[in-house]
Amino acid sequence: MYGLLFRLVFARTDPERAHHVAFTWIRLASRVPVLRDLLRAALTPPSTGAVRVLGRTFPSPFGLAAGFDKNAVGVPGLTMLGFGFVEVGTVTAQAQPGNERPRLWRMVDQRALRNRMGFNNEGAVAVAERLRRLRSTASGRALVVGVNIGKTKVTPAEEAPRDYATSARYLAPWADYLVVNVSSPNTPGLRDLQSVDALRPILQATREAADEAAAAAQRPRVPLLVKIAPDLADADVDAVADLVAELGLDGVVAVNTTIAHDLGEGGVSGPPLLDRGLVVVARLRHRLGTGPVVVGVGGISTAADARAYLAAGADLVQGYTGFIYQGPFWASRIGRALASDAAAARTARRPA
Ligand code: FNR
Repeated sequence: MYGLLFRLVFARTDPERAHHVAFTWIRLASRVPVLRDLLRAALTPPSTGAVRVLGRTFPSPFGLAAGFDKNAVGVPGLTMLGFGFVEVGTVTAQAQPGNERPRLWRMVDQRALRNRMGFNNEGAVAVAERLRRLRSTASGRALVVGVNIGKTKVTPAEEAPRDYATSARYLAPWADYLVVNVSSPNTPGLRDLQSVDALRPILQATREAADEAAAAAQRPRVPLLVKIAPDLADADVDAVADLVAELGLDGVVAVNTTIAHDLGEGGVSGPPLLDRGLVVVARLRHRLGTGPVVVGVGGISTAADARAYLAAGADLVQGYTGFIYQGPFWASRIGRALASDAAAARTARRPA
């Protein structure tokens, strides 16, 4: 059914416009109480799949990756579809329009996407205000929301720590976890911030700002993670893992889009990322040991792909591109499959 809709309507529409239309439907559906309750009841994975990670209970370990809901406008609608959590953003300290269009392309034969969006977003103040409103209700507080922050395009690299800290100050009080994104290919120079010498002051400044802001709002300390690119050399993946351990950070999100393609500008997402994503996650888990959290993302289309990330050492998994190609029931399908795995594992462990 969705395959037909995709071929007849979405595939013939400009990808960014199709995103906008589909997201509007989701948000509208979540505002009609009867429809919302019906969809939620049908699509929420069973609670056997819930996991305790980062001090929070995630209703399902499968969440929506950053970039889909950059401005935190649709979290209730997205969780209604069965995502266990939503990572909003990337949010930058200052609002910015992103790159000129076109900036999003489909690679239908590979069920992949290429984008050079460039962090189009309304900025930390506006997104913080939206999250404050979401968190002012019991149902909004019950949702698990990560916030992904990035550098404002006009901020020079040497002022990056201050820029990230500004975003953290506004957003930490409303986030279940924060992600420092230094791995998007579409802000000039951003990925250079993954080098340990550039990354250390950014993570330290962000940690400090997030702690102060959470304490001032009488909220618990917010876990801090860093998101890395699949194009890092193995030695650089290890170096980031060592830095995470050194600074006592909470974990790593791996991976962002790849620039390993010959199609022009932008980063590729979807199935071409799967193999490298799994290798990076396994490498991180090995290097980090059992403490810090690893969030696996990149090329997940099926429950088997999500299971492969968990088997490689991920605590949580996320997807984005699969949602575009597989449609609104995708998160629920994967979430339910992971929940029945968890239930079966529990039964197997129970003494006879
Ligand atoms: C992304 N991604 C992304 N990541 C991020 O940290 N901040 C962002 O703003 C965005 N924006 C964004 C836009 C679009 C159109 C896409 C397709 C992707 C990357 C995303 O979160 C994820 O890491 C990759 O897409 C890999 O996962 P999938 O898509 O293969 O499941």
